[in-house]
Amino acid sequence: MLIVANWKAYVEDEAKAKRLYAAAKRLAAGGRHEIVLAPAAPYLGEFASANRSSVAFAAQDISETTGGAATGEVTAAINESVGATYAIVGHSERRAKGETDAMVLEKVRHALANGLTPILCVGERERDPEAKYLSFLRGQLSAVFEPLSLKERSRIVLAYEPVWAIGKGAAEAITPADLGEMVLYIRKVLGSYKGAGKVRILYGGSVDPSNIRALAVGGGVDGFLIGHASTEVQSFGALVKAVN
Ligand code: PGA
Repeated sequence: MLIVANWKAYVEDEAKAKRLYAAAKRLAAGGRHEIVLAPAAPYLGEFASANRSSVAFAAQDISETTGGAATGEVTAAINESVGATYAIVGHSERRAKGETDAMVLEKVRHALANGLTPILCVGERERDPEAKYLSFLRGQLSAVFEPLSLKERSRIVLAYEPVWAIGKGAAEAITPADLGEMVLYIRKVLGSYKGAGKVRILYGGSVDPSNIRALAVGGGVDGFLIGHASTEVQSFGALVKAVN
């Protein structure tokens, strides 16, 4: 499985970041899973540039610009230059700050152009009884997949992260059965875009050691994008072991 640890801003202490990285290296050494860490940019620079392990690194976000006079922006090229190989794009916490589908597409393009694998996040804010969330999701998917070439589409990793399920306890995560249905739906939508048929699908939203196995089995996903439960050495280890 592909297991992506999104540290968000939970980890603000270098010593703790180092402990988590060391744990990730031990877990990745087993070779069963591909482990990707998404630390804040300074830690990514520190760790990824000297990384000799099988742990991979993802930027938590990349800039919509390509460089030049853009104070504060960290571009895809900058991330790639220090050893990132993935970039999370379109996370709901970025979209909540005004990131549009058009901006997300631009970021995906920059990631691809600079050799980073985009981890494209999509997901509905809420569920309505008329199932309008399905067309919302289709819209988020088509905004990115439609304009891309066949080859570009095939390089995307998709993370389905329903916003209502993020940052909660396991009881509020999606059920394995509902996840299974959503993955089928997403596969159907992606199937209409040439090149996207084999895109890896991750689930994110309140994944923890108690629910990851059932979600893996019932959800039919290729991996997980994990926030808070990936930011403690013990729970991160328990997460990976639960899917071994
Ligand atoms: P969570 O976050 O695991 O803390 O719910 C997941 C995410 O937002 O990527």
